[in-house]
Amino acid sequence: MPDSEQITLSVEAGIAIVKLANPPVNVLGAAVRQAVAGTLRRLATEPDVRAIVLGAEGRTFCAGADITEFGKQTVAPFLPDLIAAFDVIDKPIVAAIDGAALGGGLELVLGCHARIAGRAARLGLPEVTLGVLPGAGGTQRLPRLIGAVPALHLMTDGKPIPAEAALPLGLVDAVAEGDVLAAATAHARSLIGRPLRRTRDLTDRIGPSADFEAAAASVLAREPHNPAVAACVDMVRAAFDLPFDAALAEERACFLRLLHDDRSKALRYAFFAERQAAHVPGLPAGTAPRPMSRAVVVGAGTMGVGIAMCFANAGIPVTVTDTDDEAVRRGLARAAETYAVSVKRGSLTPEARNARLALLQGRVGMAAAAEADVVIEAVFEEMDIKRAVFAELDRIVRPGAVLATNTSFLNVDQIAAATGRPQDVLGLHFFSPANVMRLLEVVRGQHTAPDVLATAMQLGRTLQKVPVVVGVCRGFVGNRMLAVRSAQVERLLLEGALPEQIDAAITRFGFRMGPCAMGDLAGLDVGWRARRAVGIVAPVSDALCEAGRFGQKTGLGFFRYEAGGRTPHTDPAVAALIAEVSERHSVPRRAISAEEIVERLTFPMINEGARILEERIAARPGDIDVIWLNGYGWPAWRGGPMFHADLVGPARIAARLGEMATMSGDETLRPAALLQAAAAHGGFAGLAGARP
Ligand code: 3HC
Ligand code: NAI
Repeated sequence: MPDSEQITLSVEAGIAIVKLANPPVNVLGAAVRQAVAGTLRRLATEPDVRAIVLGAEGRTFCAGADITEFGKQTVAPFLPDLIAAFDVIDKPIVAAIDGAALGGGLELVLGCHARIAGRAARLGLPEVTLGVLPGAGGTQRLPRLIGAVPALHLMTDGKPIPAEAALPLGLVDAVAEGDVLAAATAHARSLIGRPLRRTRDLTDRIGPSADFEAAAASVLAREPHNPAVAACVDMVRAAFDLPFDAALAEERACFLRLLHDDRSKALRYAFFAERQAAHVPGLPAGTAPRPMSRAVVVGAGTMGVGIAMCFANAGIPVTVTDTDDEAVRRGLARAAETYAVSVKRGSLTPEARNARLALLQGRVGMAAAAEADVVIEAVFEEMDIKRAVFAELDRIVRPGAVLATNTSFLNVDQIAAATGRPQDVLGLHFFSPANVMRLLEVVRGQHTAPDVLATAMQLGRTLQKVPVVVGVCRGFVGNRMLAVRSAQVERLLLEGALPEQIDAAITRFGFRMGPCAMGDLAGLDVGWRARRAVGIVAPVSDALCEAGRFGQKTGLGFFRYEAGGRTPHTDPAVAALIAEVSERHSVPRRAISAEEIVERLTFPMINEGARILEERIAARPGDIDVIWLNGYGWPAWRGGPMFHADLVGPARIAARLGEMATMSGDETLRPAALLQAAAAHGGFAGLAGARP
């Protein structure tokens, strides 16, 4: 029997080995489904074949359904039918799972009669992260195989689990130490002639319905915005209440309904935008990154220590430096405390903690940089200090090492110009807390060499970040748009809104935290000092700081905090203070609706996003969205500001911005040319080629 281009087939001593062969991640597109269905049909009647092993070529067993087919016309067999066909084959089918089996890939595995996993296997149903549910029988087969409660958690967490966690759940029958295919082949042989264990027929593992209902209630309370989570709950309940085939039909209908929900469209768009961000325009294909085995971080403050921990977490030796012993000691102590909290919480073993701490060293002065492949500067946000650090690094660092600055706002080209090697310099803008936040803005300077950029992108992935390339401008993409939003917060407060109203409107929109509570968390004095340095006035925020209200650190900011507490409480003193500032500035106060608050905070950001695209600071609308989703808490199910713009309609946004500009006299609010173009052409995604 010949191989198809999408699978490979070999038959040895009565065992057929079918392998998915659709690089890079073996998605189950139409051609693969046809190849598997046709081959299994033939093998079912082939007298020399007694059992079948289903494996895969490459590092990933199977990434599931081909998401690019979603919402488009596709051809039979559909995935549920392909898997249902396993049930009419009366020869054992055993899955040999090496690498990730996700979504439809795991559902394929659930349709088999037994499952053998390799040590590196990861199994999961991430569909909810795309706003859909497992739509190829997973909602019915999984509860029957491992029980309703663990099945519900696997589906609604969306996170894959490793082979050793899958074994006690009964999700796999064995974990092979060596050759997974050989172990699965041996297992298949042992099943020949024995009754087949079809997942659809299992009745003894689903567990009590009361336990499921209790788990369902807590899951629903945790995830109010994602309709896919509620759908998973309904479908697992159906596993108790409906016959298997009726429940499958219900699952299919539910899947198709969710597919057309804007929230799922947003999540799928975000999935591809994140992957597209990895492809850097203008970076020649195959540009080899520079070696990266030893790092130095200059500055042992909040960011420096967090960044150093990222390296230690990734197994890369790192030295963090500062100007005196005490600063170094404090920095290392902070890293140790953070790891101790993780150990206490159970998310890190003591051994892993010790291994990380062993990779993390502290030194006074910058001499350690001489040995480094990459140096990341995280000293005070002042140009003169940063330039002095880079000039010294230029003297001591070996040729070819990558020199990066973690500046939030400053001009990377001016920093690079302090060295004689601007081609080796770029920005690596981490977000606080650096050891937690996934976003990494990679700031490409005017002279940054292609292989330095390639190194930064690879380093970002090694540090488990989402790296996005941006250009040089004040605040790059994220902070530049944030500044526009902050200006609107100020304006809204002055015109009549209160901090609690602004935060309530924006959390209802989907952010976990409002801008006022966020300001309190970061410390209002930080922005105050930065504004004073450049002569910018923010009447309300300035007045709060002048009254000693710096945020959580002083117990008072936009809100009031109990001693040691982090919960914001409305403070009447703030309402009085703001009213007094409005009066002083002769701004009449009025009631401002939640809808107006959301529009005034998001539309100017979208406008700034359009300018950022015009200036080519970001290459694609998707890159801006990836930044806001991963660095600033934009709700994932709203896809990011530029995706949101397409949903709301650029024409409406442009019109509202025009009104806002007229009302406020702030000409920067006039819609950017690209926003006008998007309004005429129906959206940003189409305009600039982001894949929705
Ligand atoms: N459909 C279409 N394309 C996919 C895909 C999928 N399910 N999964 C990955 N790809 C593409 C990526 O877009 C990327 O394309 P590019 O090279 O053009 O940018 C390429 O495959 C490689 O992907 P990654 O860069 O993500 O590769 P990694 O090796 O870093 O990660 C992975 C591999 C962990 C499998 C990761 O790709 C992943 O998480 N994929 C999605 C898994 C998923 O969500 N599956 C559920 C799909 S929905 C489903 O199955 C519905 C069913 O219930 C009916
Ligand atoms: P920080 O004040 O906590 O730490 C700065 C550290 O640099 C201090 O320990 C200081 O002693 C040290 N330092 C100063 N001059 C030095 C020199 N010449 N050599 C060695 N060490 C020196 O500041 P933070 O918050 O860590 O910020 C550092 C940089 O990161 C700044 O550029 C900031 O804009 C940027 N950043 C800050 C974020 C935040 O949320 N705090 C987020 C992203 C970037």
